[in-house]
Amino acid sequence: MRRKLVAGNWKMHGSLAENEALLAGVLAGMADVKAGVAVCVPYPYLAQVQSRLTGSAVAWGAQNLSQHAKGAFTGEVSASMLKDFGCAYVIVGHSERRALYGESDAVVADKFAAVQAAGLTPILCVGETLEEREGGTTEAVVARQLDAVIAQSGVASLAKAVLAYEPVWAIGTGKTASPEQAQAVHAFIRGKIRALDAGVAEGLVIQYGGSVKGSNAVELFSQADIDGGLIGGASLNAEDFLAICRAA
Ligand code: PGA
Repeated sequence: MRRKLVAGNWKMHGSLAENEALLAGVLAGMADVKAGVAVCVPYPYLAQVQSRLTGSAVAWGAQNLSQHAKGAFTGEVSASMLKDFGCAYVIVGHSERRALYGESDAVVADKFAAVQAAGLTPILCVGETLEEREGGTTEAVVARQLDAVIAQSGVASLAKAVLAYEPVWAIGTGKTASPEQAQAVHAFIRGKIRALDAGVAEGLVIQYGGSVKGSNAVELFSQADIDGGLIGGASLNAEDFLAICRAA
């Protein structure tokens, strides 16, 4: 049995005061949560979450990183810097990074490798746009995104990674993929990896992301190949986030 993992993606939200209230609320409700839980926060708040969450059941991470180890890359943050602040996870290839910051499959593959080189766990996001879904290319797009990482790091690298299937049309839109739609893509992903390495495929945590709420989480998470979620909007409210964590 794979353990479910629920990760919050705060995106560019929060302040020291807001985070304090949110973290206190989440910690207060963790007693009856069985799933793994993490929050991925903006860089400036890593020190705050490290001091607040050390020793708790909630892990933390970042939402991006540089693919480079060090050097003249003004404004960038390396994997070893994230490690200094106790990050367990780093999201790579989120659709907002791909769409708004031009991150190609090759850059995402480099970032994935950089996270693993520092001994941290990447949460690799894949997913199709509405146009791609309607054009019937969902599986081809997801396969291409995965293949870039597998070509660079090898299928065995997925034993130390988390995947997140996030259909772009479901992110922040209130439109969740139906449990059947999501399960179909998750099964496709696991099947694709099973063909390369059955053991890696069975152990791989594949989260679903895109408008997950307390009200749809139970049905999504009860699908055979959905192992928890990557949660945007609902991770900014302690009660909403906890409801999703309890569903996992
Ligand atoms: P959402 O975001 O839950 O607000 O749809 C998910 C994500 O982008 O990771």
